[in-house]
Amino acid sequence: MTKKKIVVLTGAGISAESGISTFRDSGGLWEKYDISEVATPGAWERNMDLVIDFYNSRRKQLHEVKPNAGHYALVKLEEKYDVDIITQNVDDLHERAGSSKVLHLHGELKKVRSSVDENLVYELKGWEMKKGDTCERGSQLRPHIVWFGEPVPMIPRAAEITSTADIYIIIGTSLNVYPAAGLVNYVKPGVPIYIIDPGEVYATHIPNVKFIKEKAGHGTPKLVEELLSKAG
Ligand code: OAD
Repeated sequence: MTKKKIVVLTGAGISAESGISTFRDSGGLWEKYDISEVATPGAWERNMDLVIDFYNSRRKQLHEVKPNAGHYALVKLEEKYDVDIITQNVDDLHERAGSSKVLHLHGELKKVRSSVDENLVYELKGWEMKKGDTCERGSQLRPHIVWFGEPVPMIPRAAEITSTADIYIIIGTSLNVYPAAGLVNYVKPGVPIYIIDPGEVYATHIPNVKFIKEKAGHGTPKLVEELLSKAG
C-alpha cells in the first residue's frame, strides 16, 4: 500500500527548544539586529564584516545545539507516512535528527557560495567564514542564505510538493514572510491542516485548520502519535 503524503512547513519555532532564537518573538533576533543591516544584498555591499560576523556567530551556535523532540517526532512519522519537510530554517537540525526529505527555502547556514556564481556552493568546514575566502573562480564567498530582496529559487519546487499533501502541518512559523507564507495556498481543498505554535499565528484565511497551541517539543510528538495510530 502506498503511504499517504504529509508535508510539513517549519519555521524558527521548531528549533527554539534547541536554543536557537526565533526572529519575531520578544527577544528574537530581529529585535537585536536590524534586518537591513545584516540580511540584505545592500548590507553585504555596505558592511561585509558585520554580515560575516552575524552569520559566523549563528553558525558557531549551530555547532553547539542539538535537535529536539519536535525534530525527532517528524522522523518517526516516516514509519507510516511519506514525509516531506519544507523548512524556512537555515539550521540543519531536521537532517541531524534523521529526516530524509528536507527542502531549505531560505538557504543553509553550513554552506557558503560564490558571490558571483550562485551555482558554486560549498560545505564550510567549521563555523568560520572569513573575508578573503574565495570560490574556485577567485571571488569572495558569501553565506548561502536567501536575503531579503532576493528571489527564493526553491519556491516552485516547494509549491509542487505542497500540492501533493494528504495532510499538511505547519510548525513554529509566524507566517509573516512571503513567499513562504503563501505556500499554504497550494494545499488541495479539503486537506486537513494542523498548526503547532504556542503563539498567535495569523491564519484566519486558512481553511480546515486545527490549532495545537503548544511548543513544538510537546505538540509535535503528540500529533505524530495520533497520526501514526490513525494510519493503522
Ligand atoms: P518567526 O520568528 O517570525 O516566528 C516564529 C514562530 O515560532 C512564532 O509564531 C512563535 O510563536 C513560534 N514559536 C516560538 N517558540 C516556539 C516553540 N517552542 N515551538 C513552536 N513554535 C514556537 O520565524 P519564522 O516564521 O520562521 O528569513 O520566520 C520566517 C523567516 O523570517 C525566517 O526564515 C527568516 C526570518 O527573517 C530569512 O532570514 C530570510
